[in-house]
Amino acid sequence: MGYVGLATAIPLAESGVVVVGYDISEERLSIIKNGKADLLPVDQQKLHRHLGSDSFTLTTNLAEVRTADAVVVCVPTPVDHNLDPDLTALASACDVAVRHAVRGQVIMLTSTTYVGCTREYLVEPLRARGLKVGVDVFVAFGPERIDPGLEHGVVPRVVGGVTDACGERAEQLARLITPAVHRVSSAEAAEAAKLLENTFRAVNIAFANEFADACTELGLDSLEVIRAAATKPYGFMPFYPGAGVGGHCIPTDPHYLLWQLRERQFPLSLTESAMRQIAARPKQVTARIRALLARRGLSLAGARILIIGVTYKPGVSDVRSSPALEIMAELAEHGAVVGFTDPVIETVAVGGHTWTGVPPADAADWDLAVIHTVNPGVDHGWLVKCPTVLDTTFGVAGVPGWVGI
Ligand SMILES: NC(=O)c1ccc[n+]([C@@H]2O[C@H](COP(=O)([O-])OP(=O)(O)OC[C@H]3O[C@@H](n4cnc5c(N)ncnc54)[C@H](O)[C@@H]3O)[C@@H](O)[C@H]2O)c1
Repeated sequence: MGYVGLATAIPLAESGVVVVGYDISEERLSIIKNGKADLLPVDQQKLHRHLGSDSFTLTTNLAEVRTADAVVVCVPTPVDHNLDPDLTALASACDVAVRHAVRGQVIMLTSTTYVGCTREYLVEPLRARGLKVGVDVFVAFGPERIDPGLEHGVVPRVVGGVTDACGERAEQLARLITPAVHRVSSAEAAEAAKLLENTFRAVNIAFANEFADACTELGLDSLEVIRAAATKPYGFMPFYPGAGVGGHCIPTDPHYLLWQLRERQFPLSLTESAMRQIAARPKQVTARIRALLARRGLSLAGARILIIGVTYKPGVSDVRSSPALEIMAELAEHGAVVGFTDPVIETVAVGGHTWTGVPPADAADWDLAVIHTVNPGVDHGWLVKCPTVLDTTFGVAGVPGWVGI
């Protein structure tokens, strides 16, 4: 019942089925019960309508899994410090689904993962329990495509069953969540489709950063160039430069693909290079801050630096893996006096420091301001009083005199 689980449970409840939200974390369930989950207002209203009724309950009781006609697994799939998949949560949640599986049940894995994972963590253990997949139980992979903070209308869901019968049952289940379901021939094809989507984004973000740096070198406004190219009605999709990538997906998912292919001695050099580039981006930002200060005879130690917008994307109150965290920690480590301002975040804790956001009041108080995330509706006009502004978005905020990285 994390971000994805809750976002899946709400449309299921809206469709009229009985939903049991199972999570190992009491804390997470009480956040949801208290209306404090990070949801769009429209979804918060829907949740409020269903919560507390007999048709939508929240539980940490494993046994409830046995009562379900369908089980949707939406647990985190992060990477460890070596950037290898950390399958702890997935292994444990699939084990619960397998141990409690009953005849007739549909089990759909939605967590982003490597190709073959559904088979390894669900199909084989179910078989070992004596259950025939496609006859006794129905197993599929149907990845989530939510775009945090945005209401998109209908987002199609890709679903791949282990057998045809599994695909049919999983498609029926997925249609309760969205009317648009794209069925593929196998769970593996669905797993690979999700990896393709997010690796595509990672590679293109890395390229957007590289291209923006090239524009700066050539004295060009990269946003002007990207917007011009985006007028081409085919064969081009705009991606924008920034301070790095954050959130759950882009910094992580391509590593599932890289890890799997590395094991087979099949290196993906383009993807590897893109992932290295986006991971190195926050360090590039701090190097640029240092250079800009040096031009004015200042060093990082003692410099007053304000970060504007700390979330990993605009309009979302989520700082998970946000590049701002790495930038703030590194600046503080070098003795800078760091502050941040963000309309949706009150405090940020990283590297042993905890920062409380400041109002964007007096720009002249800061030696340098870094535009990290441009939140909707935020006026950056006050920044004209700030001696140096480093805009890692290359001008989205429209601040006069911005300096790209
Ligand atoms: N967040 C996104 O925007 C997004 C978008 C598309 C896909 N995904 C993918 O969806 C999956 C879930 O991501 P999320 O953002 O919802 O994660 P999350 O961290 O928000 O939530 C995961 C939830 O799973 C619970 N959990 C952990 N282990 C469990 C277990 N063994 N049994 C039951 N519950 C358990 C946690 O307590 C937590 O509440 C990941 O694979 C992610 O890559 C995420």
